[in-house]
Amino acid sequence: MVERRTSSTVEASLTGLAVSLRGVTKTYDNGVMALGPFDLAVRKGEFISLLGPSGCGKSTVLRLIAELSAPSSGTVRVARHEGVPQPGQVLPGHGIGFVFQEPTLMPWASVRENVRLPLRLGGVPKAEGRARADAALASVGLADFADAFPRELSGGMKMRVSLARALVTNPDILLMDEPFAALDEITRFRLNNDLLALWRRLRKTVIFVTHSVFESVYLSQRVVVMTARPGRIEADIRIETVEPRGEEFRTSAAYSDYCRRVSAALAPSYSEQSTL
Ligand SMILES: Nc1ncnc2c1ncn2[C@@H]1O[C@H](COP(=O)(O)OP(=O)(O)OP(=O)(O)O)[C@@H](O)[C@H]1O
Ligand SMILES: [Mg+2]
Repeated sequence: MVERRTSSTVEASLTGLAVSLRGVTKTYDNGVMALGPFDLAVRKGEFISLLGPSGCGKSTVLRLIAELSAPSSGTVRVARHEGVPQPGQVLPGHGIGFVFQEPTLMPWASVRENVRLPLRLGGVPKAEGRARADAALASVGLADFADAFPRELSGGMKMRVSLARALVTNPDILLMDEPFAALDEITRFRLNNDLLALWRRLRKTVIFVTHSVFESVYLSQRVVVMTARPGRIEADIRIETVEPRGEEFRTSAAYSDYCRRVSAALAPSYSEQSTL
């Protein structure tokens, strides 16, 4: 477990929790107060979505959890691998996988080498790294593309590679920052279903950022709606339905009802947002 504390002395119990943010604020060096105070507890194995207007601090929340940024005040606590770390896993952030909006693949390297990168940086021997990269690629349906180069892949396939690269270290927590935003709707639906299948199988904790009400309701057990900057929690809506979810959920009355509720919670955040 990794713990960072700043001004707060509040002790949050992490029992059963993957992530705990308490009284967190973030003010950037240029004086922009991006966040807070912000409180969020995510249970281990939970799938939550963060939804909110542009600039409300969603990516900031993910960066704080991933330790890519430090809070200005408050407490960020993250439960990391409690089992035995895998051989060679020496990266400080290896308990977290991060999928960015852009796939950010190295164009000169094969798909396999792109996926192996975190293991290479972590000192995992080449043969083991290649085997694990291939397994991660198989888990996202790209077993046959390990030797391809990024330029030979579609947008959806590149995003699958990015997901495989995030999974290759076997992280407990998967942070996904608008990963499917640039994809066409059919590809996005397919990746939504594949992501749910992966989540059911691997039981990772997923924190998923999206601008899409429909996507958030389809995927998540909880939708956390944020206010305009500085981001706070406007609503925390539990999505309860028959699992596993599939296309019949997408077309159900319950799905429409949840989408309406989430949209209603989101509306004030957009109206308080300043115009450009
Ligand atoms: N490194 C930085 N330095 C200064 N300001 C920043 C920095 N990163 C983000 N900000 C500001 O903090 C606020 C929140 O940014 P953040 O990227 O977290 O928003 P977001 O909710 O992810 O937005 P979007 O939906 O557009 O991706 C914004 O006003 C942004 O300009
Ligand atoms: Mg963002």
